[in-house]
Amino acid sequence: MALVYLNGTLGPLEEAKVSVMDRGFLFGDGIYEVIPVYGRKPFRLEEHLKRLRRSLETVRIANPHSDEEWRCLLAPVIAAAESEDQSLLIQVTRGAAPVRNHAFPQVATPTVFILAEPLNPPDAALKASGVAAVSAADNRWLRCDIKSIALLANCLLRQKAVDAGCAETVMFRDGILTEGAAANIFVVKNGVLLAPQKNHLMLPGITYDVVLELAAQHGLATEVRDITDAEVRAADELWLTSSTREILPIVTLDSRPIANGRPGPIYAAMENWYQQFKTEVMRHGG
Ligand code: PDD
Repeated sequence: MALVYLNGTLGPLEEAKVSVMDRGFLFGDGIYEVIPVYGRKPFRLEEHLKRLRRSLETVRIANPHSDEEWRCLLAPVIAAAESEDQSLLIQVTRGAAPVRNHAFPQVATPTVFILAEPLNPPDAALKASGVAAVSAADNRWLRCDIKSIALLANCLLRQKAVDAGCAETVMFRDGILTEGAAANIFVVKNGVLLAPQKNHLMLPGITYDVVLELAAQHGLATEVRDITDAEVRAADELWLTSSTREILPIVTLDSRPIANGRPGPIYAAMENWYQQFKTEVMRHGG
């Protein structure tokens, strides 16, 4: 039976309950991680735990667990999940306070929640066809580098894509590419892979790092720099990356084709490298 972890207890999802005074519920005061699990082995766990530590530190929530403890807490949830491949959620909020007050409570115990859902990475047909995207002004706050659970802006931006029958919203701030509503974005131009630089305006994606590492390993030229709106629209290839969607080609933006409107050859190469890398890493234990 699938089990979730909540504050020291493993149990069925239906029985997991948090207080309405939880600051995650009242203020969106918490952070999260989403870790892909293949064949019950978490992928890039160390990197995800590192980002979790950083998010907690940045929002001033004391990390309730050491990395070793996190690994021990994740293991039974992964083992009990129905699916071998999972999207593993870790969520930590500042916890419940006796009164609703924006300021931090004097004493609060962080709420810790772990949930494994089935992972359905894009199938071959979707990778072959690519996906459509819309664009939008990035109207989020200025700390998009924190993996905060306060995701209302991201939800509205993603819904804009869904309402247009698209898979993702590609965002620009002051004419510069930031990221997708729930993904990082890459551009290919003249054989060079372009990536926005990590800063406070985008989430430092774990998949983003893997893609840049693979490019370096395989001798694909990269440039990490500001990318303009015009460069995105004139791209040879446009990709989105995330832990749950891996790498996907975007073939139209605002109903206009990217290049010839089909996934490109550099995507095909990167997708191949990524799948090989995943297989190797999982063989050696995540
Ligand atoms: N989201 N940017 C944003 C805003 C994201 O929400 C995500 C992932 C990414 C990609 O990061 P990574 O490669 O580490 O998954 C970039 C997850 C999957 C989610 O919220 O479900």
